[in-house]
Amino acid sequence: MEIKFRDANADRIKTELLVIPLGEKKLDESVLRSLDRHLKGGLRARIEKNRFAAGEGSSLLYGTAGMLPAAQILLIGLGGSDLGADAWRKAGARICKEAATVGALDVAVLFAPERDDEIAISALVEGALLAAYQFNKYRSNSKAPAEVNSLTLFRPSLKKTVAMQKAVDIAQSLMPAVFLARDLVNEPPSIATARFLGAQAQNHCRGRGLTVEVWNKKKIASMKLAGLLAVNRGSLEEPRFIRIHYKPKGKAKKRIALIGKGITFDSGGLSLKPSKSMETMKLDMAGGAAVIAAMSCLPKLELDVEVTGYVPTTDNLPGQNAQKPGDVIRYMNGKTIEVLNTDAEGRLILADALALAAQQKPDYMINLATLTGACMTALGNQVGGLFSNHQPLANSLLQCSQAAGEKLWQLPLVKEYKELIKSSVADMKNIGGAYGGAITAALILQEFVGDTPWAHLDIAGPAFAESDSALCPKGGTGFGVRTLIRFLASL
Ligand code: BES
Ligand code: MN
Ligand code: ZN
Repeated sequence: MEIKFRDANADRIKTELLVIPLGEKKLDESVLRSLDRHLKGGLRARIEKNRFAAGEGSSLLYGTAGMLPAAQILLIGLGGSDLGADAWRKAGARICKEAATVGALDVAVLFAPERDDEIAISALVEGALLAAYQFNKYRSNSKAPAEVNSLTLFRPSLKKTVAMQKAVDIAQSLMPAVFLARDLVNEPPSIATARFLGAQAQNHCRGRGLTVEVWNKKKIASMKLAGLLAVNRGSLEEPRFIRIHYKPKGKAKKRIALIGKGITFDSGGLSLKPSKSMETMKLDMAGGAAVIAAMSCLPKLELDVEVTGYVPTTDNLPGQNAQKPGDVIRYMNGKTIEVLNTDAEGRLILADALALAAQQKPDYMINLATLTGACMTALGNQVGGLFSNHQPLANSLLQCSQAAGEKLWQLPLVKEYKELIKSSVADMKNIGGAYGGAITAALILQEFVGDTPWAHLDIAGPAFAESDSALCPKGGTGFGVRTLIRFLASL
């Protein structure tokens, strides 16, 4: 989609669809009045007839019958007074959906003078781009719908600021990464194996400064990644450990490690899940997908930070050689974990990756994982849990996630709950008590980060949409990619 900025008055804009975003009950705006003069009062009459009040989610389409250079006008209701980025993102998505229904390929959006800040504009663009995602690879009857190919942002005497252009550029370079993360999650689990993920990382992480290593089982064993090997024992598929490195052209401001859980299918292992709970368990590599995807767009963004991505990946199956409840894993940092539930496998493979990443002494370490059902119980399916041993890092991630439209909420690392993960034979066990499961899981991860500033994002809820929405169809959401990129860009 081509995105342009133009300076023009509404009655001069030649387009298939002229969109005017309006705040609730703000129908006396001067643009509307001037358009209505050209339309001989017809627009105003239609607004009244339809009782259109620009409430959130409302819209009104009006054909100009040759009285204006624009063929059709679409009024989009933004709702209440407090118009944050979220409202603009949704509006952007709705504009593209409505444009598709009327078959308009070229769309113009007219911003009122007080609404042209870069937050509104970049969020609208982001929404417009996000809305286009579909996963139709396995449908026999899918027709690619006509897509908007040009979006022009207008405003009388628009000053295109550098910041505005930059915000739009970032949104545009980022979108293929969000779609990659969604694609990787949506791919069926017997296709999206550990080997497949490794190959995808190699295909997509190309470009200046990026290198990818994919370790096979032998290398994994020689690197003593004991958790990954233990979880992989029940599978016929070999595990992989993916390491992606980005080195900027100039001197790096900071060194960051990103770690993603890459369980390509979580059956629970011998602690088998009920079949209903397994239906969506191809989602269990969403953290790894977000890391691969975020890394893939770093060359285009030319950020001056050094970033290493780590993705331990395998499926979790109950094959005949599967690890058993009661087994003990000894990690490279000397710590041991007693496995009492093979379905608490994410922490087992993340422990290896966190310990390995910590050896490099990065400035910050961030892991993303669809780790616990307990986090979904606490926060629902729209909000990810954030845990951190470093409050400035947590604050920064909260701020970036808010701006990106990805909701995070901080949960505490309650020291006292370490009691709950005490084992009778090893340093700890891999499950806690009946309550606070998201916290006990985070406490186990914390044992492997040493004193590196670290944050853990439990994305079990928001990684996968259970139903369609304006910004994302049912399935993988790509959650985390936008937050990570904003965070890296903020350093
Ligand atoms: N991958 C699951 C967590 C999950 C559940 C993600 C639902 C998305 C949706 C994880 O490996 C898991 O099975 N966790 C267990 C931990 C328990 C055995 C301590 C859980 O949450 O039930
Ligand atoms: Mn599990
Ligand atoms: Zn899992």
